[in-house]
Amino acid sequence: MNPKPPQLSTWARNVAPSPTLAIDTKAKALMAAGEDVCSFAAGEPDFDTPEHIKEAAVAALKAGKTKYAPTPGIDPLRKAIADSYAATYGLKVAPSQVVVSPGGKFSCYLAMLAVCSPGDEVLIPAPYWVSYPEMAKLAGATPRYVLADDSTGFRLNAAQLEAAITPKTKLLVLNSPSNPTGAVYTRSEVEAIMAVAQRHGLYVLSDEIYEHLIYDGVKAVGPATLSREAEERTIIVSGFSKTYSMTGWRLGTLVAAPAVAKAVSELQSQMSSNATTFAQYGALAALQQPDKTKVALEAMLAAFDRRRKLLHSELNRIPRMSCLLAQGAFYLFPNISRFGLPSQEFCARLLESEKVAAVNGSAFGAEGYMRLSYATSDAIIAKGVERLRRFCAGLAGS
Ligand SMILES: Cc1ncc(COP(=O)(O)O)c(C=O)c1O
Repeated sequence: MNPKPPQLSTWARNVAPSPTLAIDTKAKALMAAGEDVCSFAAGEPDFDTPEHIKEAAVAALKAGKTKYAPTPGIDPLRKAIADSYAATYGLKVAPSQVVVSPGGKFSCYLAMLAVCSPGDEVLIPAPYWVSYPEMAKLAGATPRYVLADDSTGFRLNAAQLEAAITPKTKLLVLNSPSNPTGAVYTRSEVEAIMAVAQRHGLYVLSDEIYEHLIYDGVKAVGPATLSREAEERTIIVSGFSKTYSMTGWRLGTLVAAPAVAKAVSELQSQMSSNATTFAQYGALAALQQPDKTKVALEAMLAAFDRRRKLLHSELNRIPRMSCLLAQGAFYLFPNISRFGLPSQEFCARLLESEKVAAVNGSAFGAEGYMRLSYATSDAIIAKGVERLRRFCAGLAGS
């Protein structure tokens, strides 16, 4: 008898590995091999975690905070998160509605698992963060996309949403400020979208992980802040990775109506247990020492803002390229459609010939664009843009 070799699951065979992490890994491998790479692929701040946060985690380690903690997070951190929603957004949140997870990515996945059943549809505005479709699929649901391109500032409008809803739609994903476009929805846009979500009884996953990385005096408006009803249907995800340069710490947050928060915590109790205990004490310091945190955040924001403007103006000087000035996160999403190449080929050739790493728009559900992260030094931006300009000029004749 010759038994068939065992097969991987449908989950494993159907999941698409993260293209952003793949390109970042490739760029880092080229650098390790001695290549002079200009990488615009990173999805993380190029700053170290502020000192007071690191010190608090070290102190917690030394004090023996090395054991299991309550699944949804240590009590003082859940309370501090609830308090910060009240102080920042006027949202009255009980600590029991807060779940701390090993990363915002995991928080998003748990949110989908908590509200989606097989057969449900998850509505995802494109360009989207690469993980949403895969998470929806892993929850047994079907991702559906609505394209909001640069003609509408990469922001979905209520009419587009209305037209995309079916009887199976269960969840709408909103991500403002957005990865990959940096777009920030206005209050009236969020109001119009939430009115539609309300009418159709949808849950809304509001991924606000870039909530504090925002420029030009713009304020992000979270859907949960609009009304009591909006708050009840919204699952807010955020985390410590981007705002506090804590990507490696793996700490995400989720705030939701009591029943949803309880479901998320119960799912987490079987999937990961608590987020790393001593890391949570570091996060607590970020919230409990706001003056020090503010200094670090403002320095980072000033650098990002300068680079944002620099990269934006340089990209728009390249013939046939056009780029909107994003108001949040640390990405720009220029339109490269006039070069006539699929974005994947454009980015592969750019890396091959000029050693410039960028992520193709098709990875985010938007052909004809690419994502550039400006979470990198001014010097890399200047050098990378020069190479990009040369690459584009070379394409002119091809
Ligand atoms: C839109 C968006 N949401 C969530 C995350 C998750 O971040 P983390 O898992 O590091 O907290 C990211 C990270 O790239 C992101 O870009």
